[in-house]
Amino acid sequence: MDIDAQLATILADLAACTDGQKLEAWRIAHISTKAIKDLMAPLAAAPKEQKRELGQKLNAAKEALLSAYEQRKLELSKAPAAVVDVTEPGRRPAIGNRHILMKVIDELTELFGRMGFALAEGPEVEDEFHNFIALNIPESHPARDPLDNFYLSEERFKSSKVQEFKGEAIVNSSTPELLNPLEPLNSRLLRTQTSTVQIRVMEKQAPPIRVVIPGRVFRPDTHDATHLSMFHQLEALVVDRNVTMVDLKSTIDQFVRAYFGLETRFRMRPSFFPFTEPSAEVDVWFPDREKWIELGGCGMVHPNVFEAVKIDPEQFTGWAFGFGIERIAMRKYGIGDIRNFVENDLRFLKQF
Ligand code: DAH
Repeated sequence: MDIDAQLATILADLAACTDGQKLEAWRIAHISTKAIKDLMAPLAAAPKEQKRELGQKLNAAKEALLSAYEQRKLELSKAPAAVVDVTEPGRRPAIGNRHILMKVIDELTELFGRMGFALAEGPEVEDEFHNFIALNIPESHPARDPLDNFYLSEERFKSSKVQEFKGEAIVNSSTPELLNPLEPLNSRLLRTQTSTVQIRVMEKQAPPIRVVIPGRVFRPDTHDATHLSMFHQLEALVVDRNVTMVDLKSTIDQFVRAYFGLETRFRMRPSFFPFTEPSAEVDVWFPDREKWIELGGCGMVHPNVFEAVKIDPEQFTGWAFGFGIERIAMRKYGIGDIRNFVENDLRFLKQF
């Protein structure tokens, strides 16, 4: 066959190579060392007088093949990997959602808001006056043990504006370095309960008081399915004339049935808290686990607490409760392990 015609066929084959695999097959067939040798083979057999002309032709053909190959290779590398399908649905941007606990806090404050409760908040770093003393928890009480509290370091304590508790009044001390941070009356700590905010509210506001206080609390507990060293409580406080335990129990009853469902069972067990008298613990029935689970404590505000905030216990009475918000969320949404709330596993968080 005529060299030119043969070249044209081979170049047409090259143009028909539409992917790397076909191109490679073409390369082996036409420009590999062996293929080039075959291409040049007629030269040796040609009569002497034709060698020069044939040699030039074959060389030109070889060059043409090599450069055509490079050209085609370049074209294929630039070709789009896949055809764009304009009918394909777009990709949704990933939008996060609020943490389940924040949703539950909103639900609870909204529910209590409908029952006439205002929202109050207080600091997570507290002093012993608000965390213990004003709540009628004496120096000797085991709740004040350093092993059960996150007391803050000496350095931290010194750099903050120290409040010194002197008798009944709290005054800002201008000489904090003179105070011993380990002196129990002056220590700062991460609050262990939201009951601290009862004191802060009563310091500022005269009765009637009707507040709920959601917030974070801290205790050096070992983490397991029902314990974390940081969790949330919902505190409630009502102070007015003629407030009784009936108001307390009926409010809990309203809350439990409105939030968990009309058939939900709860019970109150006699208990002890220094800041309430009488005191009770509140359990809610968990049908999936077939047992009572404690939500928290409650009771009638102790007269000593009123005295610490200068409210006259002869004129006013009050009730309070403090419930674990994680427990409430677990009961409401069937969550089995409290650690789920803090592990940031998207498979858990996205469900709510
Ligand atoms: N502060 C208590 C605790 O963390 C719970 C509690 C009990 C809160 C009785 C109250 C109350 O307001 O009246 O264990």
